Amino acid sequence: MIGIDLGTTFSAAAYLDPDGNPQLVSNSRGARLTPSVVMEEDDGTVVVGEDARESMVLMGDAVVSTVKDYMGTDRKFVLPSGTAYTPEQVSALILKKIVKDAEEFLGEEIRQAVVTVPAYFNDAQRQATKDAGRMAGLDVACMPNEPTAAALYYAWSSRMEKGRILVYDLGGGTFDASIVEICGKQAEVVATGGIRKLGGHFFDQLILNYAADYLLEKYGLDVYDDEYIDELQELSLKAENCKIQLSSRTSAQMVIKIGKVREKLEITRAQFEKMIAGFYGRTESTVRMVLQDAGMSWKDIDKLLLVGGSSKIPYIAERLREFSGMEPSHETNPDEAVALGAALYASGLFEKVQDVCSHSLGIVSRRGAGAEKYNSVIIPRNTALPARMSRDYYTGTNDMKKICLEITEGEDEDLDYVSILAGIEILLPPGIPRNTRVTVEMFLNQNQLLHVYARIHAEPEIYKEIEIPRSSNLDESEIAEQTTLLERIVVQ
Ligand SMILES: Nc1ncnc2c1ncn2[C@@H]1O[C@H](COP(=O)(O)OP(=O)(O)OP(=O)(O)O)[C@@H](O)[C@H]1O
Ligand SMILES: [Mg+2]
Repeated sequence: MIGIDLGTTFSAAAYLDPDGNPQLVSNSRGARLTPSVVMEEDDGTVVVGEDARESMVLMGDAVVSTVKDYMGTDRKFVLPSGTAYTPEQVSALILKKIVKDAEEFLGEEIRQAVVTVPAYFNDAQRQATKDAGRMAGLDVACMPNEPTAAALYYAWSSRMEKGRILVYDLGGGTFDASIVEICGKQAEVVATGGIRKLGGHFFDQLILNYAADYLLEKYGLDVYDDEYIDELQELSLKAENCKIQLSSRTSAQMVIKIGKVREKLEITRAQFEKMIAGFYGRTESTVRMVLQDAGMSWKDIDKLLLVGGSSKIPYIAERLREFSGMEPSHETNPDEAVALGAALYASGLFEKVQDVCSHSLGIVSRRGAGAEKYNSVIIPRNTALPARMSRDYYTGTNDMKKICLEITEGEDEDLDYVSILAGIEILLPPGIPRNTRVTVEMFLNQNQLLHVYARIHAEPEIYKEIEIPRSSNLDESEIAEQTTLLERIVVQ
């Protein structure tokens, strides 16, 4: 069984070598990280990784990148052949490539994997990741959270016996923060939090916008115009390069060639820091909340571990140093720690890895007949997994025909700030009196996938598991159909 870090921008696989050390797999190009980029060729072959990434500029419309941002949504990616891929299918193609390279590297067939997900992923995003694994022909044994995996790797590599690690994971598309308590061969997550859509990919966008504003002002040239679609791809790669250079230098240049314009645009580190200050501030608030949820302060933390490519930005470490009064740790390679930790997780070297749920789950309820609807939480955020909890509700009228259960995800009582996972109708037999007790039970498994049960305390009692028709996910027949389609595709 291998461990896979299925990242927004890069993916990686790791395994446990015969000496019991986690190692990264080298892909067909000999690299340890594979860009999460998918391209369709004219003959229908699909190319994943560096080759696809390099073609982004010329073959923009045949290339899909940052698909992880769209997991758990019904976004479609239409490629030149006319095939409309779901985010699950695109992720499955990335997984196929990762597994194929790992099989060649290890000389063994791989059927099972541990695939990590951001701690802040919600039910729909986790379900979509699991479905992507199935479509790739993989049995996804477990989906540990990325910061948890990184903490396992740190604990293992530093031989930490006992201590608390605060993981600050800033990658390409997501931000996660988790506090993980290590005690011998046991790891327990105390609290977690995160921000969707915050990471290096958005920092590139800031630099790109800066360049776009500059070109518009100086030359009246709008790079977002359809006419410059290829140039825009190239410019966004240059923006990323510029950002990476600014991690080791105090200024960097973007060489811009668009239309008749030839320009060297200089960006200083100070300018870049100003651009990302607001984003950093939001991560700091999240860390503060995670500490608060854990009932801890910085003095309770033994290690501040930086994970994810974007944590290499010097400004991030500087600000964190000021904020925490601790020295942020770069001891593990930030790009690799998650995959290596996933391999440790897969190996079972840790006797127990206990995570917590990252979003509260509940149902829409009323405090009485005619009262306003609110979000009634059943499993609160940061409850240890697996979690089984229930709450009682009462029927509002005599002889109710059905109960409408709307499952919520989010902490707020105000329904404007939570999302509805699914709406379910439970049909009732005739004659159920008003004020009959209905117990709604929720079971959240290790992978944070939800099961719901209802017990209606009538004569005779009704108890059943409720099938959740997740509105943002594929159903069984769609999965089967899309899997068949993928089986015909050759991935290189
Ligand atoms: N030296 C560097 N300085 C600044 N940014 C960097 C550096 N190296 C890599 N990055 C950025 O890090 C990001 C990729 O990080 P990483 O591989 O950890 O993300 P990911 O795993 O793909 O994303 P996620 O974990 O959010 O799904 C990219 O945006 C990349 O530009
Ligand atoms: Mg990552």
